[in-house]
Amino acid sequence: MPAQDPKKRARELREQIEWHNYRYHVLDDPEIPDAEFDLLMRELIELEQAHPELVTPESPTQRVGAAPVGSLPVVTHSVPMLSLENAFTEEDVIAFDRRVRERLETDDGVEYAAEPKLDGLAVSLRYEHGRLVQAATRGDGVRGEDVTHNVRTIKAVPLRLRGTPPELLEVRGEIFMPLAGFKALNERAQARGEKTFVNPRNAAAGTLRQLDPRLTARRPLDVYFYGLGETRGWKLPARHSEILEQLREWGLRISPLLEVVRGVEGCLAYYREVGQQRASLPYEIDGVVYKVNSLIQQRELGFIARAPRWAIAHKFPAHEVSTVLRDVEFQVGRTGALTPVARLEPVFVGGVTVSNATLHNMDEIERKDVRIGDTVIVRRAGDVIPEIVKVVVNKRPPDARVVRLPKKCPVCKSDVERVAGEAVARCTGGLYCAAQRKEALRHFASRRALDIDGLGTKIIDQLVESGRVKSPADLYGLTVEELAGLERMAAKSATKLVAAIERSKQTTLARFLYALGIPEVGERTAEALASYFGSLEALQEATEAQIQEVPDVGPVVAAHVRHFLDQPHNREVIAALRGHGVHWPAQARRAAAEGGPLAGKTFVLTGTLDSMSREQAGERIAALGGKVTGSVSKKTDYVVVGAEPGSKLAKAQALGVPILDERAFLELLG
Ligand code: IVH
Repeated sequence: MPAQDPKKRARELREQIEWHNYRYHVLDDPEIPDAEFDLLMRELIELEQAHPELVTPESPTQRVGAAPVGSLPVVTHSVPMLSLENAFTEEDVIAFDRRVRERLETDDGVEYAAEPKLDGLAVSLRYEHGRLVQAATRGDGVRGEDVTHNVRTIKAVPLRLRGTPPELLEVRGEIFMPLAGFKALNERAQARGEKTFVNPRNAAAGTLRQLDPRLTARRPLDVYFYGLGETRGWKLPARHSEILEQLREWGLRISPLLEVVRGVEGCLAYYREVGQQRASLPYEIDGVVYKVNSLIQQRELGFIARAPRWAIAHKFPAHEVSTVLRDVEFQVGRTGALTPVARLEPVFVGGVTVSNATLHNMDEIERKDVRIGDTVIVRRAGDVIPEIVKVVVNKRPPDARVVRLPKKCPVCKSDVERVAGEAVARCTGGLYCAAQRKEALRHFASRRALDIDGLGTKIIDQLVESGRVKSPADLYGLTVEELAGLERMAAKSATKLVAAIERSKQTTLARFLYALGIPEVGERTAEALASYFGSLEALQEATEAQIQEVPDVGPVVAAHVRHFLDQPHNREVIAALRGHGVHWPAQARRAAAEGGPLAGKTFVLTGTLDSMSREQAGERIAALGGKVTGSVSKKTDYVVVGAEPGSKLAKAQALGVPILDERAFLELLG
């Protein structure tokens, strides 16, 4: 290939990168896999390093790496940033629509633009001749803070607009942190012993006000635009929805949930529709916003104080409310872990009444300094278990009590032990502890384990409490007469249950291993063990080192498996289950032939392969003697990269681990 003019190539690369950014962030419709995008970026970085004179401030390489700022300068908004009036009920919305129609002197259904109300921070971005020159927070509406250095790091924010934007364009929108990024950020902070953020909104606010943009760049912020500030050189279209469509063409991200509706019925139908989607959206919204769509009508309606008369926010039930913590009790789980559960003054949150919330473990209680009697913020988002976010310290009563870990198990009175360095405290009673026995049985009978239909919590409780069932093996001796004698059981359901228990005898090795409830052995690990060893005997005879040879099994899991199988009482239960006729089809041992062509080689898979699933890839590697692990280290021999790879690709590059694309991988497999 003839050497290309570097200036021309840099321009080409920037155009391609900007185009793919637009496809990805604005249209949500990428044309190329992430790995290819990364290659374009890498080429541009290298080109600019070789020819520093080619770097421009709008180059996609210039998002990160700017030096920290000393403080955030003040920015005065030439057009103030307003707030919105709130509606909490349908009646509020009906009244709003009535006021709008009265002022407009119309009986027709008014056309509204309906949008989600994002729970983040309002920002105003200033583009001059299509170039991003300033980004500011809302502040008090008139004066905000200059956060240009941070906003430039947000990949969804174009540094240069597409097409022919006006001379001056101020766009307003909401910057937010997607839930997945929020979770990852908090997990990292917790692992490092740093302060965590209470919710995505706070995390976004903290991130945006960072003085060092290199930190901001590592935290995933996103944006949707929903309005305008000052503009020059643009004859505005007739409708708000058309403004947003134009913004989108210039490369600015607009909510895909934007809809034009008619009348108050249209608004309320939109509210219900978005409300149903709320829990499955990858970011938080706290309501929807209705805006009179016609700009002429907006002008006629004008403003009251600091909010427009032509718009209103219709809020969803709050995800977070405050209530009083009455007590903390400890529940014992299948592995003996003691989980503190908060007993609360009942409150309405996220659409339901909540009286219990999880507190996870003692570390969490200590970190949040939760005391009995405290006023606490409870959060319930989507279908997740309600949790205590934080304590309202200035409402703490003088007699608030510190929560103490019990020394004895609240169920069986065995000692409670807390291993140094581990967050969980455990009851040492094992299967002597009725709570652990109940949980173990529930797990054994669950749908993805031995799938015993009809063996519910109430039945298990009675069987354990009467001493009739001590281990899963005892289930297989139960008779219809015995079961029919239990509360909530009639002859018919007892007959059915006995039939279900009988049916469960025919299972698979993977289900059986999963059902045993070995710590750290979930379904996938059980499947991996089953297909690697082929038989229970082979697994029972395997050493810890041999168990570690199984794809995706590391030292911790291997130790748990070995330890579990070595316990005499577990061996007895397994033998008794088989004695009762629990069985599975024999399967071929798929353990790698020692001395296979990939013997001793360790692989890490990232991204999606076209020709096979990850499991299939793992099996083929194992069949040739290789092994798949979860994370990249210096010991990794190859990283196989499919479409849309994760951070493992960057790690491999950083460590200099050989990278195989799909074609090279298939060649290696022969
Ligand atoms: S419009 C004059 N649209 O809500 C109109 N605001 O309570 C001003 N917000 O400060 C705002 N999503 O931070 C508008 N689709 C949306 C919004 C939205 C979130 C926030 C914004 C504003 C606050 C007003």
